[in-house]
Amino acid sequence: MNTRARKVMIIGTGNVGASAAYALLNQNIAEELILVDLNRDRVEGHVQDLADAAAYMPGMMHITSRDATDCADVDIAVITVSGGPLKPGQTRLDELQNTARIVKNIVPQMMENGFNGIFLIATNPCDIITWQVWKLSGLPRSQVIGTGVWLDTTRLRRALAQTLDIGAQSIDAFILGEHGDTQFPVWSHSSVYGSPIADVWKRRTGQPIDFDGLAESVRKHGFEIYARKGCTEYGIAGTIAEICRNIFTGSHRALAISCVLDGEYGVSDVAIGVPAVLTQSGVQQIIELQLEADEVAKFNHSVSVIKENISRLP
Ligand code: LAC
Repeated sequence: MNTRARKVMIIGTGNVGASAAYALLNQNIAEELILVDLNRDRVEGHVQDLADAAAYMPGMMHITSRDATDCADVDIAVITVSGGPLKPGQTRLDELQNTARIVKNIVPQMMENGFNGIFLIATNPCDIITWQVWKLSGLPRSQVIGTGVWLDTTRLRRALAQTLDIGAQSIDAFILGEHGDTQFPVWSHSSVYGSPIADVWKRRTGQPIDFDGLAESVRKHGFEIYARKGCTEYGIAGTIAEICRNIFTGSHRALAISCVLDGEYGVSDVAIGVPAVLTQSGVQQIIELQLEADEVAKFNHSVSVIKENISRLP
């Protein structure tokens, strides 16, 4: 039996980092949780508070704080730092400059200190920061991923599940592209056990499915939460926990996450949400779908928006 401790480092302990820590703790996904934040009081406060919570958990989790540079033994480093919350009317792309500056400072220092695990980027704009971390780190692309559209995919499956009254795990529908305004659901490949989603919907509700309305509600969901409570945290924390679990168990499950492409979908040198098979060493393969013409156009539009923003990185 492999008794080596699974170690997750969470960089940034704002709402997302702290909620991710709590999700990992509750789901017993690691043996060691390492929190990193320049705000020493906040990070120590979280360590103490989480240690209290850990006492109620069935497993044993060791919770500590460290500098990001103390990372040579870390399996997964989750980046949740952010350059500040979105203001009304801003999109995830507006967070780019501030966040990118922080990332540019941290990642090279981690590499100099021997980091050789998997980077998981949850910070927005997720795809652009994922590309930036890949570039700065020099790691193989299999070791740098972003939460990307997995959260949006989960939101889509939940919306379908509610109406269809079918468990979300049995609904094969997903979002591709940017974790942002250019994302889109791949309706041509959406089904319940191979039965096209539009047919299942029609049989259940007697109404035609509103593809555009569903896509729009998923796209806007994060912003609705933002508008109401000033951040999103629990949903993205669940996404982080699920990706970490699939890595540690070596599930070989294909999740729609942000990956650096190298010729797949006819594009290279960009990170974007596509189905990727996850193992203990990261992305083992990217699944290429036969998209319909309108979906190809949407995908390429998403690529161009991400590339344009990559060119604006400091
Ligand atoms: C959201 C943030 C993480 O969609 O972008 O909830």
